[in-house]
Amino acid sequence: MSAEILSTHTPQLFQAAVQRAVKLLRAGEVVALPTETVYGLAANAFDENAVAKIFQIKGRPANNPIIVHVANLEMAKRCVKNFPALAEKLAKSFWPGPLTMVLPRAEKIPDNVTAGGKTVGIRWPSHPFIQAVIRECDFPLAAPSANLSNSISPTNAKHVRKQLGEKISLIVDGGQSQVGIESTVLDLTVSPPRLLRPGMIHEHTLMAVTEKLAIGFGDSEEILKSPGQLKKHYAPKAKLLVLNWNDEDDLKSRIRNSKFEVRDCQIIAHTKIPSVENFAGVSVIPHDAEAFARALYSELHRCDDVGARIIVIEAPPESPEWSGIADRLRRAAG
Ligand code: TXA
Ligand code: MG
Repeated sequence: MSAEILSTHTPQLFQAAVQRAVKLLRAGEVVALPTETVYGLAANAFDENAVAKIFQIKGRPANNPIIVHVANLEMAKRCVKNFPALAEKLAKSFWPGPLTMVLPRAEKIPDNVTAGGKTVGIRWPSHPFIQAVIRECDFPLAAPSANLSNSISPTNAKHVRKQLGEKISLIVDGGQSQVGIESTVLDLTVSPPRLLRPGMIHEHTLMAVTEKLAIGFGDSEEILKSPGQLKKHYAPKAKLLVLNWNDEDDLKSRIRNSKFEVRDCQIIAHTKIPSVENFAGVSVIPHDAEAFARALYSELHRCDDVGARIIVIEAPPESPEWSGIADRLRRAAG
């Protein structure tokens, strides 16, 4: 199988791609769709067999639950046992958008979506394409990121094709993902709510609505409560180092101290940009959290594509807006 890639940049192409995706999804197939965070590998969330294909294609462990994507509040409520007042408030503030709320699951959500657990993660994405598909299907879509388990999430259609092009029949090209890292995951089944995965909706923004917030992971459980329990996640093929440096000489000595060759290093810098001569490559990433997040995975994919052995990325600032980015870099550095 070789995936068909459909464009969406005119109203006609958009509509044709919606129809094609809906047809496959109704038939219990799996398709790759754009979202504003990262591309998703989608299937009918009410169809256990369709969802099973997602696990198989990704090589995803069965104990890692999948987020269910909806296109309105009524659909979100069909997926859960109850939708608490706090969820209503959070939905008003952040949906559609990059927030996943973990809530008590409805009976009709199959076991493989929740990894056998009593909760389900729900998100209403803002990307117009996946919204149109969900509305037309009239069922929610279970969708993890459209990459092989443990590798970097895709932020454009080419990234998806590189990893899954031979395993699925349709990839819809909805342009570069605007957010660029995965959604913030918030567990609302505990009080106060617990941040399971930081993202671009960060803890201070959430606390404006929730007032209290627990951060970090609970005791280890059989069902993975967040990808943080997987030691390495979102990792590029190259070894990744996150470093702070003062100037180019300092950078070189830090690389040598880590027992690497300077000339093997692809540098990704946002503030202290070294000259390119002595390194395998130097690229500049914006020093602005939102723009950095949007560009990050593309930079990592590009480094993999050029066969980078070592990626050295300039550490992000330590403020809350950067916490989602810092989390992904920690995991990628493993
Ligand atoms: O932005 C995103 O969230 C993207 C796009 C496609 O929506 N999806 C995504 O899915 O990142 P995935 O499967 O790569 O990561 C979702 C994470 C999982 O690692 C899982 O641990 C957590 O969300 N999760 C899902 N359902 C959960 C639940 N019921 N309880 C706790 N964590 C859950
Ligand atoms: Mg993922």
